[in-house]
Amino acid sequence: MGKVTAGLTMSLDGFIAGPNDGPDHPLGEGGMRLFDWYTSGDTDYVVPSGGMTFKISSRAAEMLQEVFSSIGAIVTGRRTFDITNGWGGTHPIGEHVPIFVVTHSVPEGWDYEGTPFTFVTDGVESAVEQARAAAGDKNVAVSAASVIQQCLRAGLLDEVHVDLVPVLLGDGVRMFDHLGREHIELERTRIIEDPDVTHLTFRVVR
Ligand SMILES: NC(=O)c1ccc[n+]([C@@H]2O[C@H](COP(=O)([O-])OP(=O)(O)OC[C@H]3O[C@@H](n4cnc5c(N)ncnc54)[C@H](OP(=O)(O)O)[C@@H]3O)[C@@H](O)[C@H]2O)c1
Repeated sequence: MGKVTAGLTMSLDGFIAGPNDGPDHPLGEGGMRLFDWYTSGDTDYVVPSGGMTFKISSRAAEMLQEVFSSIGAIVTGRRTFDITNGWGGTHPIGEHVPIFVVTHSVPEGWDYEGTPFTFVTDGVESAVEQARAAAGDKNVAVSAASVIQQCLRAGLLDEVHVDLVPVLLGDGVRMFDHLGREHIELERTRIIEDPDVTHLTFRVVR
């Protein structure tokens, strides 16, 4: 059985998007600053779908290669799905990886032949369970803030990965929100320091 991992790019003050996010500003106003590290390095990294090439450090490219190849299923939230318009039908991870979208209602128009998307209307625990079953020995990647928060509260996450960007966004969508007062302990298991981003991986201590 693989791990359940969460991973997002976050500003130093804890935002994963700026304010007023939507299809016109997928990462909110000013939020694209968070993704500058994908184009500021000297090593080409072609995403598994083949649809994008990042320019990142060689160490980050090795890390992404390792992370992407370990993912057997994705769990995401409906806002991320809508804002990206379902990644245009093909997630950067490739069309073979099943994606479970947590939502209150199933959108129309996404039931085409071979769609990787399953819309889960009975909560994050069900989404993670279905994703685990689909992933087999591989990992489940959780990639939406509200879903990560619910998974943390429910004790479903094994690992949290943060690409920490040295900018203070000041406003927007918080990564670690609505978590209550109980401490959640993390143990740092990896750090990759690049000039414009620090890649941090933590084990969730349970
Ligand atoms: N920085 C990064 O690396 C990164 C990566 C990905 C995304 N993002 C950004 O993150 C933002 C979106 O994150 P978010 O946390 O606001 O939204 P989200 O987690 O993507 O989606 C939240 C929505 O999912 C549905 N949902 C969540 N939990 C549910 C539950 N238990 N039962 C039923 N439905 C549930 C609800 O939608 P409905 O009620 O409509 O069904 C809810 O409004 C966007 O700005 C996106 O661009 C950033």
